Amino acid sequence: MIKKIVVATTSKHKQEEIKSLLKDLGIEVIPMTFFKEYPKTIEDGKTLKDNAIKKAKEAARFFNSWVISDDSGLEVDYLNGAPGVLSARYAGKDCLFKDNIKKLLNTLKDVSFEKRAAKFRTIIAIADPSGKLYLSEGEIYGIISPVERGLYNFGYDPIFYIPHYNKTFAELPPEVKNTISHRAKALQKAKVILKKL
Ligand code: IMP
Repeated sequence: MIKKIVVATTSKHKQEEIKSLLKDLGIEVIPMTFFKEYPKTIEDGKTLKDNAIKKAKEAARFFNSWVISDDSGLEVDYLNGAPGVLSARYAGKDCLFKDNIKKLLNTLKDVSFEKRAAKFRTIIAIADPSGKLYLSEGEIYGIISPVERGLYNFGYDPIFYIPHYNKTFAELPPEVKNTISHRAKALQKAKVILKKL
């Protein structure tokens, strides 16, 4: 089994989530921000998969190490999968989470509850410097709530309603969200891959 892996993200939240999920594997998990220099990959892919692969491959070459990266997004059925790969900057470059929520609620303002189905999707890429590449995917289905509810977590969580819990993601404490989320599911599958490397 591999001994260490670099996490190609600058997000503290993701670094912690990945580290905590992989802790029982016996692999040293090192956030790339631990190093003085790290690649600043331009996320210009057309899909989540393109971006996850690009981040993992660039970092694997840069660090000459195994690397794990992820890319996630919200896909709304009524909008044919938008904002998708553009989720972070749906309302424009440098926009805030609240701007994205405002834009999405406005776009769906006349759309009935039955037609507001959506999913969060994560793609995880694991790469090594020689070009070996493994992918995993996780999804969670929900409905875009017309009103914001809850204060936990981040991003679109206050408007991502999960009927099974009768709660939005922002009403679920992180320790609950992080067992059912798109990222958690993709990470569980990534763990199975890592165990075999
Ligand atoms: P990233 O690739 O994980 O950085 O996700 C890109 C964007 O998708 C984020 O900036 C958020 O707007 C949105 N997003 C991804 N995962 C989540 C989540 O778990 N909750 C809410 N929003 C998310």
